[in-house]
Amino acid sequence: MHGVDAKKDPNRVVIFDTTLRDGEQAPGFSMGAAAKLEMARALTALGVDVIEAGFAAASPGDEEAVRIVSGEVEGPVFCSLSRATESDILAAHRALSHNRARRIHIFLGTSPIHRKAKFNMTADEVLAQAVRAVAFARTLFDDIEFSAEDAIRTERAFLGDVMEATAEAGATTLNVPDTVGYSTPAEISDLFRYLHGRIAPRFPDAVLSAHCHDDLGMAVANTLSAIQGGARQVEVAVNGIGERAGNCALEEVVMALRTRADQFGVTTGVDTTKLVGVSRLLSRLTDSPIVRNKAIVGINAFAHEAGIHQHGVIADARTYEIMLPQDVGFDGTSFVLGKHSGRHAVAKRAAVLGHEISENLMGAVFAGFKRRADEIGEISDSELVAIIEAAYAENEPPPQRYAAAN
Ligand code: KIV
Ligand code: ZN
Repeated sequence: MHGVDAKKDPNRVVIFDTTLRDGEQAPGFSMGAAAKLEMARALTALGVDVIEAGFAAASPGDEEAVRIVSGEVEGPVFCSLSRATESDILAAHRALSHNRARRIHIFLGTSPIHRKAKFNMTADEVLAQAVRAVAFARTLFDDIEFSAEDAIRTERAFLGDVMEATAEAGATTLNVPDTVGYSTPAEISDLFRYLHGRIAPRFPDAVLSAHCHDDLGMAVANTLSAIQGGARQVEVAVNGIGERAGNCALEEVVMALRTRADQFGVTTGVDTTKLVGVSRLLSRLTDSPIVRNKAIVGINAFAHEAGIHQHGVIADARTYEIMLPQDVGFDGTSFVLGKHSGRHAVAKRAAVLGHEISENLMGAVFAGFKRRADEIGEISDSELVAIIEAAYAENEPPPQRYAAAN
């Protein structure tokens, strides 16, 4: 169930991926058409519902990228961002004309600071422009998303008026962006409940959407709270890339919904076993490493160095893991040797490498191991072999099998 069909199930959350637009527009994450195409194919296999492929009016290159990506990939709905102007809407329409599964995403700032500093317009003028733009887009598109940019800092009643008026004009998805990452979980769920109360009775098919930025590190928490308040579309980006501190991370929100289904009671169409692969693809295409402790997809997400943790995980992985590594695309748990590891883990790794260390040599090996771990941190297999060899050289000749192998 891809794209618009997902809207029919009340407990199904539409995954709107903006890696190729909000993500791509952030410094360091720029992608050309070829890279966008590779990402779009991977996102399609991942099972996202909507791919925002770019902002057609931003540059001829962006229009071309939206055209190529939406023309060559089938499955999700393809979308272009657009300001609330006829020329932008026409550019989006040109770029998306090769795919019938298309959506336009029109945005206009609605908060007092945006109305004054960006447009010098009154609230009534902003509302009228939003309605005009959506009505014009309706002559070209069936699937229209309207975003009240900086919704979180917009007066609540006025935001409700804008949402109602744009739904009336033909918007089918109403997006509530926390453009500057200012909201809190309690505030945003309350706002969604208010908007749901105003919109659902008159426009039961309209989908409320959350778009949260991470300036205070709350994008994922806010997105989850918006779902609890009635959002049924979330706008996310792989690895959380996006303007400034980024967007809500796709992999984090999807795994939170799945792991804590008891709390949220909703589903997505994402094949979670592809999360690590997509994350690494984006990292390669944008030449941006994934921080090791990144939730879900960082290499530390299922790695253990501390002896107490290794011992627990060997006995039962659930002691220190709340998800199966295979469920997000890792081969399995990894045990890393370092200064926090115990004798048991060192002996076990040595055995895997073909070195059964005798009881009386273990003390020397373990002391050498701790010394070296203090110096360099992580002990690789070759480092461990070197430590064992040094211990043998100082203490006793290597056993027969070990001697023969060398
Ligand atoms: O953050 C934002 O407000 C946006 C809009 C264009 C949806 O990215
Ligand atoms: Zn944004």
